[in-house]
Amino acid sequence: MIRIPTRGKPMEHKAILTLHEEFAIGEVDPRLYGSFIEHLGRAVYGGIYEPGHPAADEQGFRGDVLELVRGLNTPIVRYPGGNFVSGYNWEDGIGPKEKRPRRLELAWRSVETNQVGVDEFVDWCRKAGTQVMMAVNLGTRGPEEARNLVEYCNHPGGTAWSDLRRANGHADPHNIKVWCLGNEMDGPWQICHKTAEEYGRVACETAKVMKWTDPNLELVACGSSGSGMPTFPAWEATVLDHTYEHVDYISLHTYYGNQKNDTPNFLAKSLDMDHFIRSVVATCDYVKAKKRSKKTLYLSFDEWNVWFHSHEADRKMEPWQVAPPLLEDVYTFEDALLVGCMLITLIKHADRVKMACLAQLVNVIAPIMTVNGGGAWRQTIYYPFQHASLFGRGTALNLNVRSPHYIDAEFGEVPTLEAVGVFNPQNDEITLFAVNRDLEKSLPLESAGQDLSGYRVKEHLVMVHPDLKAVNTLENPNNVVPTRREGAHIAGGKLSAELPAASWNVIRLAKI
Ligand code: AHR
Repeated sequence: MIRIPTRGKPMEHKAILTLHEEFAIGEVDPRLYGSFIEHLGRAVYGGIYEPGHPAADEQGFRGDVLELVRGLNTPIVRYPGGNFVSGYNWEDGIGPKEKRPRRLELAWRSVETNQVGVDEFVDWCRKAGTQVMMAVNLGTRGPEEARNLVEYCNHPGGTAWSDLRRANGHADPHNIKVWCLGNEMDGPWQICHKTAEEYGRVACETAKVMKWTDPNLELVACGSSGSGMPTFPAWEATVLDHTYEHVDYISLHTYYGNQKNDTPNFLAKSLDMDHFIRSVVATCDYVKAKKRSKKTLYLSFDEWNVWFHSHEADRKMEPWQVAPPLLEDVYTFEDALLVGCMLITLIKHADRVKMACLAQLVNVIAPIMTVNGGGAWRQTIYYPFQHASLFGRGTALNLNVRSPHYIDAEFGEVPTLEAVGVFNPQNDEITLFAVNRDLEKSLPLESAGQDLSGYRVKEHLVMVHPDLKAVNTLENPNNVVPTRREGAHIAGGKLSAELPAASWNVIRLAKI
């Protein structure tokens, strides 16, 4: 974003956007609105799967949860981990359920019953209207088990693994296209953590045998588990040195929290995400230049969210339970604002970030919560994600935002307005996503650039609440929800709108 220096002349409290259909950043890959289900806590058991629940279908999948997932229109869901995958034997989760082993799961210190495995998850994804992004275990296992899993999932038949899938009730191949080569292998907490050299070598060889098994795969190499890791970004440079020509994406992960209860600082944390993305793009392009390669590497931001509310409770959790309530963050209204800023940041980098996964989807740091045997509801963060997924498809537009700013000790000048646009050529709609970070003042907004006389404001959706810490619960599920706001209009070819203090906004423009 270009920020116009305002030193010396205080800027009017107003934001100006240069809005033009052709001022494009890049095409938004729908997979930017992906999510994540890990065998962790109650994401699978008690989340998407609960046989015996009144809303469960014949396979044990909760219909109420499926409905809430469908409402997000998320095109891809990462599975089965996460830290979990680095100790996972995928063969434990196939075949007759009564024969599947119960195992100690070392990443989250739980007991894994294996009642859901790859075949069930593929079935669930079909019901949810989404696709699988599959991760392979490069912790305790390696290329052999990974290529067997590709053969099991994607080979039509006539080989041991593909015929086993057929015998297990899936005559047609699953055709899973996107695969992650392990998870967070840079992290010492990871089961069989590796150095960049060790991981780079095994990822390269695994990528080769997986693509030889199915040349249609798209592969994601593990980047750093966060930009604060001491090995960042040397990890990316080394890993890509080994894998550049064999993979298609490198992963990024980040989670933020408001531990200091400093909301202006918290809402600025998407600037850190922005910096992280720029640094990874620069590292990819450095390796590209070094290798004299014609290929451009893309980014998969396959874990991102707010995560901090549950840390204390999780430290006290008894180990070796089946599906304990781990990572059950209850999200506040201000968390939804930061999630909105993070979504805007991802869209602003749509030219290079082609996939992203809100981590996670149900119960575990999730937009959807359930009670075992009881109801399901939408957390505050459900809504900005839903809006971006529904209306943020098409071409990302650079709005060249001119905004007032505030000063934060960590981030310096923080723009009061975080915003991006998306032009959808299919219906000729332009959607603006905007967060007003000012906690006290509403922000008038005006467009410059394109004459918008041919457009009308279809709707202005707003999420706003007098209490930044307000949450949704089973008993009060509609405490924080979006509403329609009147007043935004186009006159003289310009858009004018008022963004309430501390608000998430979606302004949809349609052709007259
Ligand atoms: O999403 C929760 C955990 O966060 C994942 O298992 C891991 O990859 C990350 O550290």
